Parts: sequence; structure tokens; C-alpha cells
Amino acid sequence: MGAVITACFSRQGHTIIGVDTDAFKVGQINAGKSPIIEPELEKMLGEGVAAGRVSATSDFKSAVLDSEISMICVGTPSKPDGSIDLTYIRRVCENIGEVLRDKPSRHIVIIRSTMLPGSIEGTVIPALEKTSGKKNGLGFGVGINPEFLRESTAVHDFYNPPKTVIGTESVEDFHKVAELYDGIPGPMVHANVRTAEMVKYADNCFHALKIVFANEIGRASKALGSNADEVMRIFSLDTKLNLSPVYLKPGFCYGGSCLPKDLRAIAAAGRALGVELPLMEGIGLSNDAHFNSAFRYLLEQKEEPIAVLGFAFKAGTDDLRESPVVKLIEELVKAGKQVRLYDRNVSPERLIGANKKFIEAHLPHLSHLIVGSVDELVEGAKVIVVGNGNDEARTLLPQLGHEIKVVDLVSGGIKTSTKAAIWRPCA
Ligand SMILES: NC(=O)c1ccc[n+]([C@@H]2O[C@H](COP(=O)([O-])OP(=O)(O)OC[C@H]3O[C@@H](n4cnc5c(N)ncnc54)[C@H](O)[C@@H]3O)[C@@H](O)[C@H]2O)c1
Repeated sequence: MGAVITACFSRQGHTIIGVDTDAFKVGQINAGKSPIIEPELEKMLGEGVAAGRVSATSDFKSAVLDSEISMICVGTPSKPDGSIDLTYIRRVCENIGEVLRDKPSRHIVIIRSTMLPGSIEGTVIPALEKTSGKKNGLGFGVGINPEFLRESTAVHDFYNPPKTVIGTESVEDFHKVAELYDGIPGPMVHANVRTAEMVKYADNCFHALKIVFANEIGRASKALGSNADEVMRIFSLDTKLNLSPVYLKPGFCYGGSCLPKDLRAIAAAGRALGVELPLMEGIGLSNDAHFNSAFRYLLEQKEEPIAVLGFAFKAGTDDLRESPVVKLIEELVKAGKQVRLYDRNVSPERLIGANKKFIEAHLPHLSHLIVGSVDELVEGAKVIVVGNGNDEARTLLPQLGHEIKVVDLVSGGIKTSTKAAIWRPCA
């Protein structure tokens, strides 16, 4: 990655000093040769060296003294237990910090390596502060600028990034780093450091998930006599629900009359046909884990009653079948909690058909818990669970005069009065 960004930033007109402890790589770069096989790279490095904009060295001191920004691209491999090894990051920060001790001007240290949230705070800043004797923010600035290039198309990806994300504490540092990307297309995002550290993990987890998903649908299709390539081709035509931001907002569990049933059916078919589908089996387990985090939080709350605003499986419907909020209510009642409910779309007299049967089987006492209005619901309540996206929450909560804990399961940008504290299962 260091070699690729050296070549690409130099073509943008910047002067780059590559630093590596590996003498062979330093020699290769100085000879205008690529240390790795990557389309376009050797040609670009050669041009950069010939133009005097690219050089390489093992000498940290001259490189840091003669530059304004250090970009750290060292490896962040796995330890035997899978956890991240920050040894190289720590070492390189110590090396930079030692030089910063004698550098009069402010320097910016930007991490390009992939590192878990907390690594800048827990490893990078302490290593730099200890060795430089300077304070973060004053003598130097830090940040993370995750890299999204892929091997074999790295140069193309550099000039066509899906987005550029720069996580810094200072806005000036952000602008300074952003200038390096002048002329590069795609959204430019300034994020806080911990968010920027996490973005690359969200990306890579999702990319791995997509591959595994396509392969599981492929194995299930094959076992069930469908054409996997056609299934996924048709799947990918749907840019409204499938390949889109829909369903990608952290919130509460999935539920309703379709998703749980259909996932159970695919997983059961896999078991019956001897096809392993651990992802399809695991999706429900992950949903349960998410449910448990909200349930445990509510169990720990001493205050009662717990008011639940909106409990149909989604806003604008009265469908209660496999509503995760109904399950939450059921478990809270079983645990002996006092619960009060209101959903403007659900009144016991109006429940009919499969919906009514579901409630009779799963929550026969539901009707006794339902109150007739939002005012009745919040009267004296110390905890309110916003269970689906009904607009009431948005108008009600900013006006509430008494102290209340809001458990926001919809993550709908809820605003509250200053007396309310918001808890979400995943934010
Ligand atoms: N390879 C990719 O396509 C890619 C893409 C995006 C992000 N990343 C991330 O970038 C980071 C680097 O990946 P990579 O594939 O380029 O790793 P790499 O192992 O190929 O390169 C790391 C380089 O750092 C050098 N190095 C190690 N310690 C040093 C030190 N103290 N001083 C100077 N040089 C030192 C090594 O000699 C090596 O040349 C990782 O965190 C990786 O996850 C990689």
C-alpha cells in the first residue's frame, strides 16, 4: 500500500519520501522499480523518480524532518488468537516521535493501516507523546485515513475511490490531508477518529459477508435445483431493496411474518439436504443476541412501569406477528416487570385473523396492558421504549416535563427534552 500511494500521490504533484526498514524495497523504489507486482505501478514509480518527486530511504530522521505529513502504512497482522498486532504501528510511531523531539514545526501523523477503534488513542498517541516529549494536538496532530484500494486494481482504485475518509481531531489537519486528494472524485468525509477507524472494518466485514452470502445462496440453489448464477443476477438487479442503503441502519431486530419464517425454511432445507448454511443459521442467532442486549438493559432498570410506544412489527401497520417488540414485552412481563403499551394502530377490538390468533397464543394478556392514549402511557412512566417509528415519539419526547429514560429501538433521529436520557441497543 505504501508503494502504491507513493506512486499515486507523486503523480498528483506531491513530493514523497518512502521510508522502509526493508533495504531491498528501498533500493527498488530508488531504482524506479516496483517492489510488488501491480499494474501501472512500476511505470509510475519510474516517472516519479525521474521527476525527482519520489525517493526512498531507511533513515526516518531525514524523512520526517523534510516532510509535513507522515503516512503510516505498516502491516497490522493477526496474533495467533486473532487479535490485532500493533507492534509495527507502535514501533514506527516511536521512530517518528524521536525525530519530532528535534523538529521545530508541527507535524501531522496519519495512519493508513487498518486498525481497530481505540488504536490511535491507546497506541499511536501514547507512543508519539512518550518519545517526542510533545503533546498531541500541539506539537503534532494525528489522524486516520483508511485505504480502500484493492490489490491488482490498486492504482485504478486510488484514482476512483468509493469515498475518502479522513478522521482527525482538528479541522485544520483534516483540510491539510484533504488537499492531497484534490482532483480525486468521490465523496470526501471528515469523521471523528473512532468512526474513521471503524469504517474500514464495516467495509471489509460487509465485503466478506457478501461473498459468503452469494456462496450460500449458490449452495442452497444448487441443492434445491435452482440456477445460482441466475438467482444472484436477478437479485443484483434490485437496487431498491437489495443493493441499496435500505436495511443498513443500526436499529432493532428484524421480525414480522416473512423474514423469520423464510430464514427458518432455508436453514431447515439446508439441514434436510445435507448442505451446510452456517450464515443462514447464524442470522437468527445474531438477531437473538441483539434482542438480548435490549432485554437485559430493560431488566436492569429499577424504574417501573415501562411504557412501550409502538409495538406492531413496523410503523404504519397493526401486524403483531413475530414483532420483536411484542416478544420483548412478553419477556418483560414474564420477568415480572410492569409494562404499559400504546400503539395507535393496534386496539384489541380491531385485531383479526392470523394477527389475533398470534396474540391469543403468545400474549393473551396483551389487551390488559394497552392504554388508550399517549398521555396515559407516559403518565408517571420513568422508562419509555420507542418500539417502532410512529411519529408520536418525535412530537412527544421533546415536550416531556419529567425525567425519563428513552430506549430507542427505532433509531429514528429521536429528539428529547433535556430531562431524557437515550439508550440504543447499537449506538
Ligand atoms: N494491501 C492492500 O491492498 C491494503 C488495502 C487497504 C489497507 N491495507 C492495510 O494497510 C496496511 C499495510 O498493508 P500492506 O499490504 O501494504 O502491508 P505490507 O506488509 O506489504 O507492507 C508493510 C511495509 O511496512 C514496512 N515496515 C514494517 N515496519 C516498519 C518500520 N518500523 N519502519 C518502516 N517500515 C516498516 C515493511 O517492511 C513493509 O514493506 C495493513 O494494515 C493493511 O490491512 C492494505
